[in-house]
Amino acid sequence: MKINIVKPVLPSIKNIANSFSKALSSGLVTNNSQNVKSFEKNLKDYFKSKYEPIVFCNGQMALFSLIQAWKFYLEIRHTEKVYCIIPSFTWSGTINCLILNNITPIFCDIDNSFLLDLKNLNNEIKKIKIKKNKIRFIIPVSNYGNIVNIEYLKTFCKKNNLIPLLDSAPAFGSKYKGAYPNNFGIDEIYSFHATKIMSSMEGGCAVTNNKKIHKYLTYLRDFGQFEKKFGNIKLPGLNSKMQEISAIVGNYNLKNFSKILKTRFNIIKKYEVFFNKFEKKKIFTLMNVDNNVMCCYLYFPIIVNKKILKFQNYLKKNNISFRRYYTSTHDLEFYKKNEYLIKKTNLKFTEKIKNKVISLPLYSNMNSSEMNYLFNKIEKFYKLN
Ligand SMILES: Cc1ncc(COP(=O)(O)O)c(C=O)c1O
Repeated sequence: MKINIVKPVLPSIKNIANSFSKALSSGLVTNNSQNVKSFEKNLKDYFKSKYEPIVFCNGQMALFSLIQAWKFYLEIRHTEKVYCIIPSFTWSGTINCLILNNITPIFCDIDNSFLLDLKNLNNEIKKIKIKKNKIRFIIPVSNYGNIVNIEYLKTFCKKNNLIPLLDSAPAFGSKYKGAYPNNFGIDEIYSFHATKIMSSMEGGCAVTNNKKIHKYLTYLRDFGQFEKKFGNIKLPGLNSKMQEISAIVGNYNLKNFSKILKTRFNIIKKYEVFFNKFEKKKIFTLMNVDNNVMCCYLYFPIIVNKKILKFQNYLKKNNISFRRYYTSTHDLEFYKKNEYLIKKTNLKFTEKIKNKVISLPLYSNMNSSEMNYLFNKIEKFYKLN
């Protein structure tokens, strides 16, 4: 048997042929046409958000544009040196969005939730001697679908005059106290990449609570244009519109999402029971998920405390895929070579676990024989059965 890292949930051609055929024959295959519009409306119903989420060609462009829109709104000039608090342990694409917006990331540590360690931020930031009023943003990424303490985040931001933006790329389906972070007034983005839980093949969306930001985002994904007659632009945007075919797939998957999520949570429960045995024996350490969070687990991350190299080879030999996801981004070649672009605080926990974390496959359409195969192999390796 072979266990892939993920099996994308996608419709069969017969389920989307009619809508796609209509789009093709009308010639309206892009430029925010009918299916993109209905996808945004359906996403608003899903989130119960203040405004319609704005869809993009991918999650990274949604994040890039959300940051750009906020810089513009706050009248931060492109050349002004400003900073953003962010975990080092995340996805390179998140950090790149800051660098390309001319914002310096302040790499901060995570805790055993794999999320930004909010409680220690103040102490750590003080040590790096940056003028406080130059730190304008904080992006606590929702790694693996886990979510930070939203009330604490809001209080911290209020006290320190920071704009919180949530990179929820991997977290579609996750909830905090039964709602989505944007329901608490926090602007966020999601990814609909094929590997994500809710997929439009490629795609993403930004959800904002600010009317002006909402407008800017609609301009930004369309070259920054706010009117079409002269193609006049409000700010310099990158074409990042979603195609109709992606919106069609997104609409189909969203309609079936509650069913998908239900199956997924049954799988998650079984993983938790199984992997708890290993945590008790200190073989693995599991991600700490707060009781207030309903985490949809994009992959199943584990810290492997015993025999990691042998374990990785064993998984490979048994055709079980795994990923080094996420990673300590401050160690990536570009950031190492261009240290002037970044700031680092003490990354004690990140350093401790960075070579010990692996993500195991966990997908919504996993069948019981695949799960049993995975579980049996792991039990056998650690002689736990
Ligand atoms: C934390 C995080 N942010 C952003 C992205 C980018 O999303 P996309 O692949 O849709 O551009 C990803 C993708 O995996 C991610 O994990």
